[in-house]
Amino acid sequence: MTAEREFPQTASAMLSASLEASGAREGALFTYSDRPSLLTSIAAEGFALMPEPAVIPLLPKHVHALTSSREPLILDPGSYDLYLSANGNVAPELFKCIVPLKVGSKLVGLIALGRREGDSLYDPGELEALDLLCHYVALAVHNHSLTQTLAQRVSENLRLMASLHGFYDNALEAFATAIDVKHVNIHGHSLRVGRYASAIGEAMGMDPPEVAALRSAGYLHDIGKVAVDKRLFGKPTSLDAEEFREMADHTIVGHQIVSGVQFPWPRIPEIVRWHHERSDGSGYPDGLLLEDVVMPVRIVGLADTFDAMTSERPYRERLSLGSTLNEIVRLTPQKFDPNAVHALLLQVRRDTVGSNRTPFLQDRMGGDIAAADIDQLAAGLQHKMNHGRLYLT
Ligand SMILES: [Fe+2]
Repeated sequence: MTAEREFPQTASAMLSASLEASGAREGALFTYSDRPSLLTSIAAEGFALMPEPAVIPLLPKHVHALTSSREPLILDPGSYDLYLSANGNVAPELFKCIVPLKVGSKLVGLIALGRREGDSLYDPGELEALDLLCHYVALAVHNHSLTQTLAQRVSENLRLMASLHGFYDNALEAFATAIDVKHVNIHGHSLRVGRYASAIGEAMGMDPPEVAALRSAGYLHDIGKVAVDKRLFGKPTSLDAEEFREMADHTIVGHQIVSGVQFPWPRIPEIVRWHHERSDGSGYPDGLLLEDVVMPVRIVGLADTFDAMTSERPYRERLSLGSTLNEIVRLTPQKFDPNAVHALLLQVRRDTVGSNRTPFLQDRMGGDIAAADIDQLAAGLQHKMNHGRLYLT
């Protein structure tokens, strides 16, 4: 149940397991939403004719009956009307047995089974097995709906803001702050990534609108984290495979959130989805190569890494500025774009010699690196990019 990445696949797997447990050859899995009360199918198997999705509106009496049932219900011509309405796009008579899915006392979905092999009756032993399984199915369906609702709400807010006021920096800053309230360890992260990304773009000679777009993209890059379990941010040890996947999915959820929003800058959805991709294809979620992603994506990815390395995490201390830059140069060009890294070095150097009007790093880090060290790093990077050839002038 937890192994699949995309929910529709998980839903199909859960439905197949339920059919197997009960000996059914037809079945459908529904999620339930209130206001309006509706069952919507997310997986179906075996039925000759089943709309996609199948939708069944419920009256309050149906919701009450389903919520108060304690076990799988065998339906007969006299009892359909107790549990399901005939007002949807699917006839309740297709279903011979239904199992309401509940979390606590809340209805979250329904498994509806059709006929069995040879039209035999459902036997109590099999229904008991199904009942056990359904507790897990209910939890999985519920978790998915929670994430969906949250993602939808955030997306609606963004869309509303875009349509009402245009995108003002301070409104986006508010969004960035909201993303980072998840945990003390990431406070200020999105704001800093916005600032670093725009400064890197500026040092690369980009136009003011491009620089502004980079700032906004930095603010929003982690928006999918609103749907990640808070617990994961404070975990004192590294994440296990399952937890890592949940965390990594913030790129996909974030992409869903911003895809429906008309931004004044292109590239936002790409940046949100791909800021963890690395030049050598070792990143996620799509394992892309450097040439597959555009420069703004590479810049935000670098700004994000730079901030993560210079920030404390529950399982490690923050790295010094010098070690961070050393490490980033060491990992270039395998992980990062050399031009973007060069621009990052340039901005830090301007801080060390005091030529930045607004300091790049602001008051966050003491300068533990001298201009001469940065020049050396830049020369080393240059040398690597010239494939080890040395040009003497
Ligand atoms: Fe991220």
